[in-house]
Amino acid sequence: MNGIIENYKEFIDIGDAEPISMGEGGTPLLRSEYLSRKINADIFIKVEGCNPSGSFKDRGMVVAVCMALHNKKKVLVCASTGNTSASASAYAAKFGLVSAIIVPNGNIAKGKLSQAMAFGAKIIAIDGSFDNALDIVRKLEDYDEIEIVNSINPYRIEGQKSAAFEILDEIGEIDSLCIPVGNAGNITAYWKGFNEYSKKFNYKLPKMYGFQAEGASPIVKGEVVENPETIATAIRIGNPASWGKAKEAVTNSNGGIHSVSDEEIIDSYKNLARKDGIFCEPASAAGIVGLIKNTRKYNFSGQKIVCVVTGNGLKDPETSEKHANTKIFEVNSNIDDILKVIR
Ligand code: F0G
Repeated sequence: MNGIIENYKEFIDIGDAEPISMGEGGTPLLRSEYLSRKINADIFIKVEGCNPSGSFKDRGMVVAVCMALHNKKKVLVCASTGNTSASASAYAAKFGLVSAIIVPNGNIAKGKLSQAMAFGAKIIAIDGSFDNALDIVRKLEDYDEIEIVNSINPYRIEGQKSAAFEILDEIGEIDSLCIPVGNAGNITAYWKGFNEYSKKFNYKLPKMYGFQAEGASPIVKGEVVENPETIATAIRIGNPASWGKAKEAVTNSNGGIHSVSDEEIIDSYKNLARKDGIFCEPASAAGIVGLIKNTRKYNFSGQKIVCVVTGNGLKDPETSEKHANTKIFEVNSNIDDILKVIR
């Protein structure tokens, strides 16, 4: 199976390195009938939870790991709210590297931690936030055997831009992109991808709309958030590494960046499952909330729009258990009792 490096080799420069793949990319782009009707537009969902480790991170990780192998690195290190660490440890397992992940203790979703454990990562849980973890990681940059695989590694962005290529290849040019923002690498990558492909194939550039969780919205507020807080733990970040680049994407595309509340996130998270059959993790629903909330402000009606749904719902089973409001019927195993429930 080709991954993104082979599929887009003209745009992803790995020099003399040997391409690798775990089958990342090629994720579904599904039309949401529900959202299209609701806001009277053509809305598509890029289902990034279908990547090998269950999030968009694999697109960038495969390129970062490809280069780490080429440069004879031995250890992948990252700070993470969970998905980067799941991705890094999966690729480390497959390609014979050690992974060491630094995560905020108690603030990463169960599924993501289970992945890192299964893949055999060295798990370092710190008493602090993602931002503190990233500060530590930056200090490890100069050790020869270590490759930092956060999105401060430019190869991560190079890989992640492939999602923009896939959208353009599949449905042609779009008017707007709605995307959750945490450390701000992904919005940066999409903007880079749209620019490169548009230049080559003469596509119109979309407007970029980023959405942060209210309690973790430094870019929206214009100041670092010391103690970020949100149910969407994936984007619980107070000082994003790609802050400036995200601002650039939003400003240069004439888009916008706004915050959405935890309540709104959960509402959209539930609707996406119930009406579109897509089970995502809470952070992933932020783009959809932003789309719905800002329909009037940005005249989204009549547009062709992609919402990026970044990670798989299985990563955070506890949130689903808590918020799905689904009753489990405990019955005797006889047909009559079972039919009673069904009917
Ligand atoms: N959605 C999910 C599911 C994520 O895991 C992340 C980031 C984002 C959105 C935001 O993307 O950081 O590029 O703006 N997760 C990182 C991690 C921080 O460590 O897994 P971003």
